[in-house]
Amino acid sequence: SLDFDLVVVGSGFFGLTIAERAASDGHRVIVIDRRDHIGGNAYSHRDPDTGIEVHNYGAHLFHTSNRTVWEYVNRFTSFTSYQHRVHTNHHGVVYPLPINLGTINQFFASAHSPEEARRLIAEQASEFTIADARNLEEKAIALIGRPLYEAFIRDYTAKQWQTDPTELPAEVISRLPVRYTYDSRYFNDAFEGLPVDGYTAWIERMADHPLIEVRLGTDFFDESQPINKAAVVGTLPVVYTGPVDRYFDYAAGPLGWRTLDFTSEVVPVPDFQGTPVMNYADADVPYTRIHEFRHFHPEREEYPKDRTIIMREYSRFAEADDEPYYPVNTPDDRSKLLQYREMQASQPDVLFGGRLGTYQYLDMHMAIGSALTQYANKVAPMLSGSPSA
Ligand code: FDA
Repeated sequence: SLDFDLVVVGSGFFGLTIAERAASDGHRVIVIDRRDHIGGNAYSHRDPDTGIEVHNYGAHLFHTSNRTVWEYVNRFTSFTSYQHRVHTNHHGVVYPLPINLGTINQFFASAHSPEEARRLIAEQASEFTIADARNLEEKAIALIGRPLYEAFIRDYTAKQWQTDPTELPAEVISRLPVRYTYDSRYFNDAFEGLPVDGYTAWIERMADHPLIEVRLGTDFFDESQPINKAAVVGTLPVVYTGPVDRYFDYAAGPLGWRTLDFTSEVVPVPDFQGTPVMNYADADVPYTRIHEFRHFHPEREEYPKDRTIIMREYSRFAEADDEPYYPVNTPDDRSKLLQYREMQASQPDVLFGGRLGTYQYLDMHMAIGSALTQYANKVAPMLSGSPSA
C-alpha cells in the first residue's frame, strides 16, 4: 500500500508550497519530479569552477507586492537588497530599460522634460490607434510611436518569436510601459530581493520536513514506478503541476510553447558587461540577451576576481522534447485549453496547478500565492478525511 495522504507531481514552487502546507498540517506527502533536482525552473547551482550561482533555467528575480506571500517565503530564506535593472544594446549604444525618460533623451539626444517627452511620444504614436491595430507592430506603434518601436521592440520581438511582428497578433502585447521619469527599476513591487544563500537552499528548506518525501528522476507517466498516474489517481488526492495536455495524452492536441536555449561561458575577465542583464535589440545579433550572474550577488565576496560567467539566451518555438517556457496562447491553443479544462471535471481527486498545469505564465510569487490559496480552498478539504487528519 502507499503510505501517503497526498501525491504532488512536480517540485517547483507550486508543488512545494502545497507539499509544505500539507505536511505542516500533519499529512504525509510524496513529491515526485522527473528531473534529477528539485525546484522546477527556479533551480540554481554553484558553478564548480568559479563558485558563481548560475540560474539553470534563465534569470530568476524575486519580487512581489503580496504581503502574505512575502511573509511566507521569508520563513525559508532571507533576501538581499538586490534591485533589478536592465539595459539594451541598440546599434552599439547602451540604453536603460524599460523605456524611461533617460532612454528617450539618450535616443533623441535631447533634454526633454517629462511633459515634453509625453507630447513627443503621443505625437509619434498617433500613426495608429490601439483599437484599429491589426498586428503587434501597429499596436506597438500606437503605444510608443515608430522610432522607439523600431529601435527597441521590433527586432527584439522578432527574435523572441522567430516571427515578424506584422504577423503576430496585437494581443501579444497589452501595454508597453513608458516611464516619464529617470526611474529605471525593472519592477514596481513593494518587496524585491534575491535569496541570500541562493534559490536551491531556499527550495530545499521548503522540502525539509519529516512528513515530506521527495523522489527525483520519477515521471508520473512511467508505470514501472510505484507512484504513477494509473496507480494513484482515484486512490489518493493528487496535485499535478506537469503539462495539462500531457496528462490527457494530448487528446485535444498539443498546446504551443516557446522555449529558450542557453549557452554559458567562463570569461577570464573580472567583469564582462558591468550589469546583470544586457538585451540585444538588433536583428544582426542572434541572441536576445546576455546574463552575467556575478552581478546578481555583488555582496558575495567569495566570487573570483579574475573570472566571470556569462550566459547567452536564444528564443524559439518549442518542439516535442524541448522545455516548455512561455505559453504561445494562440486562439487555437485557447480552444484546446478549454477542452482540457472540461476533461479535468472527470478527475475530481486531481488539482491541476502551476504554470504547466494551467498553461499560464506565472511569476514565482504568483505560483506561490496561487498554491497557498488552492491549498486552503481545495487541497485541505480533500485531505480532511485522510488517516492523519
Ligand atoms: P515549474 O516549471 O517550476 O515546476 C514544474 C515541475 O514539474 C518541474 O520540476 C517538472 O520537472 C515537473 N514535472 C513536469 N512533468 C512531470 C511529470 N510527468 N512527472 C514528474 N514531474 C513532472 N519568475 C519570477 O518571479 N521572476 C523571474 O525572474 C522569473 N524568470 C523566469 C525565467 C524563465 C525563462 C522562465 C521560464 C520562468 C521564469 N519565472 C520567473 C517563472 C518561474 O520559473 C515560475 O513561476 C515557477 O517555475 C513556477 O513554478 P511551478 O511549480 O508552477 O512550475
